[in-house]
Amino acid sequence: MLWFNKIVAFILPLFPKSFIWIFSKKYISGKELEDAINATKELNTLGCCATIDVLGEEIESLKEADQSRDESIQVLEAIEKHKLDANLSIKPTSLGLRIDKEACYKNIEAIVEKAKKLKNFVRIDMEDATTTSDTLAMYKRLRKKYSNVGTVIQSYLMRSKDDVQDLIDNKVAHLRLCKGIYIESSKIAYKNKQKVRDNFMELAYMMLNSKSYIGLATHDKQLVDRSIQALKETKADPKDYEFQMLLGVTEKMRASLVSQGYKLRVYVPYGEQWYGYSMRRLKENPNMVGHIIKNLFIRG
Ligand code: FDA
Repeated sequence: MLWFNKIVAFILPLFPKSFIWIFSKKYISGKELEDAINATKELNTLGCCATIDVLGEEIESLKEADQSRDESIQVLEAIEKHKLDANLSIKPTSLGLRIDKEACYKNIEAIVEKAKKLKNFVRIDMEDATTTSDTLAMYKRLRKKYSNVGTVIQSYLMRSKDDVQDLIDNKVAHLRLCKGIYIESSKIAYKNKQKVRDNFMELAYMMLNSKSYIGLATHDKQLVDRSIQALKETKADPKDYEFQMLLGVTEKMRASLVSQGYKLRVYVPYGEQWYGYSMRRLKENPNMVGHIIKNLFIRG
C-alpha cells in the first residue's frame, strides 16, 4: 500500500484547496482562533483537556517569528478568557530557531512568562532531528527559570534514551513521549516499527520509574495497552501522567480511556496555514494518505 500512498501524496497538491480541506478539517479545528476555542470547549464537555497549536509554515524573517509569538500569547489569553481546560503547544522553528537562536529563545521565554502569569503551561513540540539538540538546550535553559514548560521526546530517535536520562538527572523531565513524525535517516532513527514501540516503552518506564511527568502521546492500541500496564506496574500517581491524542484520530479509543478515568489531552491545531501543514504532513508520512482515504468512506 506504501507505493499507492506515495503516489496519492504526490498528486494531492494538484487538487484544489477546497477539496483538500474536506479531508483536513477532521484533523484541524479551523482557520481562526475561535475555531480552536469552540473545538476545545466541545472536548472539555467530553471530559478531555486540550493543547492548542497555532499552525505555522517555515518562516523567513524574525518579524514573522514575532507574529507567531504574539499569536501564541493570544491563545493563552483566550484560554484564560473562556476558562478552557487547555494549554499551549509551540514549534521552535515558527519562533525563529533556524534564523536566530537567541531571538527564538526570547520569543519562547515571553510565551512561557505569559503562561506563568496565567498559571498555564507550554509544551515545546519536537521537530525534525536537525532541531533536537537546540530545542533541548533551550528547554534546559528555560527550566532554570520556569517550571511551567515541557518538551517532547521521539522514540524513533536512537539518541532519546541518553536525552531522557540527561533530563531525569537534571530533574527537568516533563515530557510528551511520541514515536516521531518526521522522515529521518536510518543512521539516527529506528525504522523497525516494533523497535520504535519497544523503545517508546523503555523510555516510558524510565520516566515513570523516576516519577517524571509523562504525556503518553499515541493512538497505537498496543502502546496504549502496554502503557496502562506500565502505569499499574509502577504504581504511577495520576497527577504524574496523561494520555494525549491528535484531534480527529481514534476517537473511540479516546472515549474509552476517558470513561476508564484516564486524563486525556487532545492536540488541537488551527490556523490559516492549514494547507501547508497538511501537505507537509502528507509528504513526510505518506501513510497518512491511507487514513485520509479511509475518512472518504468512513464518516462519523
Ligand atoms: P500509528 O501511526 O501506528 O497509529 C496507530 C493508529 O492510529 C493507526 O493505525 C490509525 O488507526 C490511527 N492513526 C494514527 N494517526 C492517524 C491519523 N493522522 N489519522 C487517522 N488515524 C490515525 N511527533 C513529533 O515528531 N513531534 C511532536 O511534537 C509530536 N507531537 C504529538 C502530539 C500528540 C498529542 C500526538 C498524539 C502525536 C504527536 N506527534 C508528534 C506525532 C507522533 O510522533 C506520531 O507520528 C503519531 O502519533 C502516530 O503514531 P502513533 O503512536 O499514534 O501510532
